[in-house]
Amino acid sequence: MAKPTSVKDYIRTIVDFPHEGIMFRDVTTLFADPRGFRMAIDQMLHPYAGERIDKVVGLEARGFILGGAIAHQLSVGFVPIRKKGKLPGTTISEEYTLEYGEAIVEIHDDAIAPGEKILVVDDLLATGGTCAAGIKLIERLGGDIVSCAFVIDLPDLGGRKVLEGLGMDVHALCS
Ligand code: PRP
Ligand code: ADE
Repeated sequence: MAKPTSVKDYIRTIVDFPHEGIMFRDVTTLFADPRGFRMAIDQMLHPYAGERIDKVVGLEARGFILGGAIAHQLSVGFVPIRKKGKLPGTTISEEYTLEYGEAIVEIHDDAIAPGEKILVVDDLLATGGTCAAGIKLIERLGGDIVSCAFVIDLPDLGGRKVLEGLGMDVHALCS
């Protein structure tokens, strides 16, 4: 294989995972490479230079890895949005559908203060269902979303349009 030069070069595709017909874009190969991982974090941060961001919200599960690194880089706090039943404190929840199923996501009800500027982070934007549910949770707590940042956008699944329809600024490193 040729030497990877872009973030996209580090991402591998697993065919028929987790179900037949799904081309699973696997970012574990990107995260496992020190150059690739640093490149991804640096590029995800780039659009927000000089912007006020109070907290990073990461979407389970790969959004935790990216969001944690981004929050550390910005010296701000990190807040997880998790699948139902995983957070120990009092939560609020939202139901959503995704490319291969249905789920409920939750956030601690004291995780964000009204008016805080929030950057939402995940690895991949497909239908936008997961992120739209996350956006609803953040906005119910009074958070002000600066932008939603992804490594990958799957344009055929329409997630960007869904999020832009909710008034969001959307950034992805590759599609
Ligand atoms: C994947 C991905 C996003 C979501 C995108 O997570 O990491 O969070 O799907 O799909 P959508 O735009 O159609 O909502 P997944 O639901 O597989 O959960 P996991 O990260 O916990 O495995
Ligand atoms: N989440 C939804 N669709 C996906 C895909 N094709 N690859 C990785 N994660 C996904």
